[in-house]
Amino acid sequence: MKVLVIGSGGREHALVWKLKQSTQVTHIFCAPGNAGTAQMAENVPIAATDITKLVEWAKLNTIDWTIVGPEQPLVAGIVDTFHQNKLKIFGPNKASAKLEGSKVFAKLFMEKYNIPTAPFKICQTIEEARQGISQFDFPLVIKADGLAAGKGVLICNDSQEAEEALKLLMEEKKFGKAGDSILLEAFLPGKEASLICILDGNHIIPLESASDYKRALDGDLGLNTGGMGCYSPNTMFNNSAIRQKIKQTILDPILKGLEQEHLHYQGVLFIGLMIHHDQINVLEFNVRFGDPETQVILPRLQTDFIDVLSYVHQGNLQPQDLTWHKDKSICVILASKGYPNSYEKEKLITGFEKIDQQVIPFHAGTENRDSKIFTSGGRVLGITALAASFEQARKLAYSNCEKIYFEGMHFRKDIGQQVTFST
Ligand code: AMP
Ligand code: GLY
Repeated sequence: MKVLVIGSGGREHALVWKLKQSTQVTHIFCAPGNAGTAQMAENVPIAATDITKLVEWAKLNTIDWTIVGPEQPLVAGIVDTFHQNKLKIFGPNKASAKLEGSKVFAKLFMEKYNIPTAPFKICQTIEEARQGISQFDFPLVIKADGLAAGKGVLICNDSQEAEEALKLLMEEKKFGKAGDSILLEAFLPGKEASLICILDGNHIIPLESASDYKRALDGDLGLNTGGMGCYSPNTMFNNSAIRQKIKQTILDPILKGLEQEHLHYQGVLFIGLMIHHDQINVLEFNVRFGDPETQVILPRLQTDFIDVLSYVHQGNLQPQDLTWHKDKSICVILASKGYPNSYEKEKLITGFEKIDQQVIPFHAGTENRDSKIFTSGGRVLGITALAASFEQARKLAYSNCEKIYFEGMHFRKDIGQQVTFST
C-alpha cells in the first residue's frame, strides 16, 4: 500500500513514523516533508496547500491513502477534491472543516447544540465591536473568525488593549479576511486540555489524552506558541466523572449536531477544553491532529494506523479497536532563537548520533543540505521519550535534549514536571 502524508511539521513526522511500522505499507511519501521524514519516507516537493498538484501527483502515483496534517488544505477542501478523483483521503470535508475555518461557525454550532463554551458576541464592524465590549469584563478575549496561523486570538486586559486588538484585526487587517468578522468572548479561567478524537461519520472516539504547554517560557510565562512540549496521558482525565461529563455534555452533542447539520465527518477532531473544577468548556475545535500532541499520542498507539483508517472508511470505528501502550510519553520542543517571534534559521544541528535508541527525535523545522541537517523553522525538533513512569520519561527526554545542539537552541525545562511530582 502506498501512503502520502501532507505537511512538514513534527506532527507529520510522527504520522510517517507510525505508518512506517505498518506491515501493510510499502511506500510512504511526504509532501513537502522535512529532514526527518526524508529518513523514513520519500519527500515530494509539493506545498501542503497546492491541492491541484497534490491530487494530480496522487493520481499519477496511484496512492492508496492520503493523510492530511495541517488545517489549511482541509479548510480549502482538499478532501472533496480527492474524493471527486476517487482517491481515499483521511480528513473532514470542506463543509465540516469549517469548525476550524470559522470560529463564528464553531461558536454557533456549540450554541445550537448546547455545547458548553464561553459567552460570546459576533461582530462584523469595528463600531459594533467597540459597543459590544461594554457587555464583557476584563480580561476579554478577541478572536479573528478565520484561520490566522494560531495568532488570531488576543487576550486583552483593559479597554486600551481591546481597542488595539480591534484595530489590528479589523482596520489594519493583520490577518486579512480572517478578521472580517470577530468574536468577543468571556475569558475562562482553568486548565487547558487537548482531547483528540477520531470520527468515522457515525461515532466519535477519543484518543488517549494529552496536555500541551503553549507558553514559550517555564512556569507558563512568555508568549503563546504552537506548543513547546506535551505529555500523555493527561492525568486530569483519570477522573471518571470528568470523562463522563465530557461524553454527555460535549461528545454526544457534537455527534448529534453533525448529524443534524448533515456534516459527514470522517477524520480527526481536536477539542480544546478549559477545565475549572467541575466546569468543562470548549475553547475551540481543530479539524486535524495537534502538534505536538501527535508526537506523544501516536507513539503510545499500538493499533496499526492503516487499520484505523479502514475502520473509519467503513464508518465503524469502536473504542476497543484502539489499543494503547501503558507507557507515559513526554515530548520537549527544541526551538530556534527568537521563536515565537521572528527567529533564526539555517543553523547546523548536531548530536543526532548520540540520541538513545528508545528516544524519537521528531523533526519539524529541519532541512537537509549537503548531507547535513539545518534548522528551517521556529520549532525545530520534538524529543519524545516513553517510559513506565512520567519521571523516567522526563529524565530520558531531557537527557537527550542535552545531546542535540544548534546555535540559539532553547527549550522549556518544566515539561511534565508537575505531573511527575503529582503521580
Ligand atoms: P483558540 O485558538 O480559540 O483555542 O485560542 C487560543 C488560545 O487562547 C487557547 O488555547 C487559550 O489558551 C486561549 N483562549 C482562547 N479562548 C479563551 C477563553 N475564552 N478564555 C481563556 N483563554 C482563552
Ligand atoms: N498544540 C496545539 C495545536 O496543535 O493546535
